[in-house]
Amino acid sequence: MLVTGGAGFIGANFVHYTVRHHPEYRIRVLDALTYAGNRASLAPVDDRVAFVPGDICDAALVDSLVADADVVVHFAAESHVDNSLRDPEPFVRTNLIGTFTLLEAVRRHGVRFHHISTDEVFGDLPLDATGKFTEQTAYDPSSPYSATKAGSDLLVRAWVRSYGVAATLSNCANNYGPFQHVEKFIPRQVTNVLTGERPKLYGTGVNVREWTHVDDHNAAVHLILRQGRIGETYLIGSGDERSNREIVELILALMDRPTDGYDHVPDRPGHDLRYANDSTRLRTELGWRPRFDSFRDGLAATIDWYRANEWWWKPQKQATEESYRRLGR
Ligand code: NAD
Ligand code: DAU
Repeated sequence: MLVTGGAGFIGANFVHYTVRHHPEYRIRVLDALTYAGNRASLAPVDDRVAFVPGDICDAALVDSLVADADVVVHFAAESHVDNSLRDPEPFVRTNLIGTFTLLEAVRRHGVRFHHISTDEVFGDLPLDATGKFTEQTAYDPSSPYSATKAGSDLLVRAWVRSYGVAATLSNCANNYGPFQHVEKFIPRQVTNVLTGERPKLYGTGVNVREWTHVDDHNAAVHLILRQGRIGETYLIGSGDERSNREIVELILALMDRPTDGYDHVPDRPGHDLRYANDSTRLRTELGWRPRFDSFRDGLAATIDWYRANEWWWKPQKQATEESYRRLGR
């Protein structure tokens, strides 16, 4: 199995999950170790994984690795919306050219491909409605990040239809858990509290996200690899929707701080209002159920992980906050 982006948040957790639950796989990770990649995230499984530093846009390297694989699981991406608003270029390169490079290699070598994507390709939902995204929802991305992910999904679908590539796709909602970069919402607020900073809420904090534990996401990916229908898209989501304000207050409560001890900062331009996935297809066809059915418990465990693993996140914290300060957030 070739895992791209395996030194990032979800990819590293996927490698850990695979070693734990699917020891039949021999795993190779291809990762460029951008600011978001951390070699240390794979340290606990180093004896079980071959790590190749490199770029998914490097066609010769990708070809040689794909030629030696039975299956490719593609996590590598530029993943942070705020960064894409500041500088979209790496997003276009990695998310579009990188995915194209992988698709060409799996086409040449007849290798099974699974593409990891996001519900942000659908744009957003109104705050005052109960509807959810489905596999039939039209694409309507808002940010450079989501536009490049939408483009990468369309490339995968075209390579299935035109070239018969054996690919599946999944679009998950927001993930939480260990090894997530401190630029992202939950780790940023938790590590702010741990370093004596106040949590920062964009705008009024009414925006809603659907939170899925990273192990539940990765369990779904394995089900799709085993039983998913080629060419199909599967939406993944726990069903647990929360406003950003509710989450900041819950983090503060779980960390024994006053629940109003946070700052409002200027809103993200074009800020998507609400995400929610209808995961009926995954649940009925493949029998997926989230194991982390209490967000509060999953969040408490995630807070404990950041408390215990300062060595992992501390080196990135200062630079991340400096770049937020430059954005006024
Ligand atoms: P991340 O930013 O934590 O990790 C991305 C990884 O990709 C890093 O290790 C980085 O070094 C690597 N990478 C970046 N550019 C590369 C390149 N050109 N060549 C090789 N490696 C490169 O991202 P994440 O949050 O783990 O997201 C992983 C995937 O899941 C992405 O495709 C993202 O769109 C998708 N996704 C994320 C979430 C979420 O909540 N984080 C939800 C749904 C889908
Ligand atoms: O839905 C899936 C997507 O979830 C993934 O495709 C993306 O890769 C991933 O980054 C995530 O995107 P979001 O933009 O939803 O995640 P982020 O962690 O950046 O922010 C979550 C919410 O919190 C969002 O409404 C913005 C808000 N926010 C974020 C930060 C960093 C704050 O209020 N304060 C903050 O400091």
